[in-house]
Amino acid sequence: MNFVIGSDHAGFQLKELVKSHLIGRGHQVEDAGPAAPESCDYPVYGLKVANLVAAGEYDQGVLICGTGLGMSMAANRVRGARAALCTNEFQARMARAHNNANILVLGERVLGSELALSILDAYLETRFEGGRHERRLALLDRME
Ligand code: RB5
Repeated sequence: MNFVIGSDHAGFQLKELVKSHLIGRGHQVEDAGPAAPESCDYPVYGLKVANLVAAGEYDQGVLICGTGLGMSMAANRVRGARAALCTNEFQARMARAHNNANILVLGERVLGSELALSILDAYLETRFEGGRHERRLALLDRME
């Protein structure tokens, strides 16, 4: 798949790790920044990645900040973005299977790196189930 990834300073180290992990699994990854771990504002990168995914330029996005909360808030302001903050593998599987999430959000200050990559793998391995979930996502779209 074709990924775009972004973070703020508090998600920078995990961004680098997730990037290598995705590349190691044969995915293409565009790094939307930042390029260095200096203090920066999560809405800038959250909106950048969400806009690119919502515009269909990438299959999936990954956003990382300290808690994952700010990135979720920013990304879900964008029409067509379905950003899912996941703290365990079950949420990651459901985010894809039921919510057809197109952006995985992680909190570097919440998760150990091993758990973060395991959540990422669960997200990658799961496909949208469609069916009744299509109707619910259509209801969400009507709210936009
Ligand atoms: C940065 O200190 C922190 O506030 C940010 O990474 C994020 O957790 C916000 O939701």
